[in-house]
Amino acid sequence: MTQPLTRALVTGGAGFIGSHIVDALLADGCDVAVLDNLSTGKRENLAHAADRVRFYPGDIRDPEAVETAMAECDAVFHEAALVSVPRSVEVPLESAAVNDLGTLNVLEAARRGGVRRVVLASSSALYGDLPGFPKTEEMDLRPMSPYAVHKLTGELNARLYTDLYGLETVCLRYFNVFGPRQDPSSPYSGVISIFMTRAAENRAPAIHGDGEQYRDFVYVADVAKANLLAAAVDGAAGSILNIGVGETVTINGLWETVRQMAGCDLAPEYGPPRIGDLFASHADIRKATETLGFQPAYTFKQGLETTFNWYMENR
Ligand code: NAD
Ligand code: UD1
Repeated sequence: MTQPLTRALVTGGAGFIGSHIVDALLADGCDVAVLDNLSTGKRENLAHAADRVRFYPGDIRDPEAVETAMAECDAVFHEAALVSVPRSVEVPLESAAVNDLGTLNVLEAARRGGVRRVVLASSSALYGDLPGFPKTEEMDLRPMSPYAVHKLTGELNARLYTDLYGLETVCLRYFNVFGPRQDPSSPYSGVISIFMTRAAENRAPAIHGDGEQYRDFVYVADVAKANLLAAAVDGAAGSILNIGVGETVTINGLWETVRQMAGCDLAPEYGPPRIGDLFASHADIRKATETLGFQPAYTFKQGLETTFNWYMENR
């Protein structure tokens, strides 16, 4: 059984993943509000839907701003966060304020506002570098950065709000998400967005470590689809689910594919590994398939081609 979504709030909806969730909700005929402080997100990400989205400029650390944006919503998609692992290592207190306390604000406003369900963006970063792959949700966790610790407290608080107050929550542990609108402009940006722009500008990329570390890359439209399922499917309430593809690519292999796509012939510049960086990341997605009926529609190659074309058109 599924519940129809009528009115939803997307925190961080002007960001990369949030703006794709907004698109999927609008396509479903849902009324959509966005709360975003535009720290890494952009109004342009919602420009194509500006007349259909109620945009609330504001911060998840501000309880009143959250409460106002959430008014009369039946579902909340919580995407707002300080998203960079290395940035969280530099500013752990800010990571705690946004990722831990900000998430608590969102849960508390949802409880007070009578929201039916909150879907939270969690992360595969929680698994850390413990052996055993692919990762299932029952495996031990070992957060290796402030970001991962604060995403974990978000999950723990979500479970607490379900147990104490009956608020339905679903935590989605995204693996590495990529696609159009991922902002490539900072050294903390997602690796695919950086490699795409480097290739387009014919500039050599930097690889942190030997490049043999690997990730499970999932295309953003599939992540948006997983979010809508997580909000709607009755039996999903209370679950924690991996959202990835179940296949891995090394960072060296990624550059090789991007380089070929762009038709450039540049060798990467290798530097020391990044502090707090995972070596390996690989998802077992069977639980998301069983619980939500989730199956990624895009192969890595299809997603990469679509993304490359977008970066070419939007340079
Ligand atoms: P993003 O930076 O594009 O989006 C985050 C959005 O949140 C931005 O629009 C930003 O302006 C907004 N924001 C940040 N702090 C805020 C605050 N204090 N108040 C209000 N708005 C605020 O990043 P993304 O990649 O779209 O990430 C979305 C979510 O997915 C995050 O929770 C992130 O931790 C999680 N996640 C992302 C990935 C990935 O590979 N991109 C993987 C795992 C989890
Ligand atoms: C990413 C997300 C994080 C999420 C996690 C889930 C971003 C910015 N970070 O972290 O929010 O929780 O996935 O697994 O979206 N690299 C290079 N050169 C570069 C950039 C990166 O070699 O120019 C390497 C990194 O050292 C790392 C890998 O590429 O080994 C991936 O880096 P990145 O895209 O930043 O993602 P994660 O740190 O895995």
